[in-house]
Amino acid sequence: MTMPVIMVHGGAWTIPEKLVEASRAGTHAAARAGYAVLMRGGSAIDSVHAAILVLEDDPSFDAGTGSVLTRNGEVEMDSVIMDGKTLASGAVACVQNMKNPIELARAVMEKTPHILLVGKGANQFADEVGIKRVATESLVSEEARRELECYQANYGSAVQELFCQRGSHHDTVGAVALDADGNLAYATSTGGISCKRPGRVGDSPIIGAGGYADNEVGAVSCTGHGESISKVVLAHQIVSDMRNGKAPQEAADKALAKMAARVNGYGGVIVLSNSGEPVTSFTTERMSWAWIKDGVLHSGINPDEEITEDVKSCNLNGCN
Ligand code: GLY
Repeated sequence: MTMPVIMVHGGAWTIPEKLVEASRAGTHAAARAGYAVLMRGGSAIDSVHAAILVLEDDPSFDAGTGSVLTRNGEVEMDSVIMDGKTLASGAVACVQNMKNPIELARAVMEKTPHILLVGKGANQFADEVGIKRVATESLVSEEARRELECYQANYGSAVQELFCQRGSHHDTVGAVALDADGNLAYATSTGGISCKRPGRVGDSPIIGAGGYADNEVGAVSCTGHGESISKVVLAHQIVSDMRNGKAPQEAADKALAKMAARVNGYGGVIVLSNSGEPVTSFTTERMSWAWIKDGVLHSGINPDEEITEDVKSCNLNGCN
């Protein structure tokens, strides 16, 4: 029997002081939700799904409620889930009026022969599987609105270019898990980048770019500048290096360094090997992350920070 592990991230970038405590609390809650699933014998897929639901519902993060806005002030979200045992995956891109896009991504994986549905077709599929639409307004946070106004005020200037490359507050949520049967999974969800063109799709729903899970090696979920992550196929780069014998930390650091050097792109990753070794790496100012293994929660947000606390008990409602 394998020792279960859950890892989550609440996104890279600057994470302003006013969001630091909420980011910590949100990643802790998500890790506990994912760990509770594993502790009652649940699968890695169910664990990452449970963790992402918590992060999507938390307005501090750029996913589900709290998603950043397109230049038209709309919410367009991307989400993905992948099973490392079968390599089955499901994703949606540019979906609107969804409280939890991860539900739809999972339905794509389990109820269609496809791996990615976009835009209107994805929303139609949501109607077919009974996922209710919500008003855009219910997904929009004060922070997302303020950020869009900031982008629009600087649109076309060097400042806007800098924001687009380096981001300004938060980006994307993700989770990777290893269950007691030795199965891996990953899931990622995002509102993308502020002031994006309507129809823009980032790295997150593209397997290999924004994430990957393969029981033979490990699982990865990425956060950061989606165009840069896609150019270097960040997640698959890390998994390939691990497959070829590189240690997870070295593989993660190297891939992010390559992204900075080759395309001036920044971001972060959570990586979990199939032997249960969890590592984090980021080249942005901050990245909020948390993982639980053997009843101990580890978390951080600033470079070189790691806080630990015991997870005392788990029941059907979660872990304390
Ligand atoms: N990393 C999320 C995005 O660029 O869409």
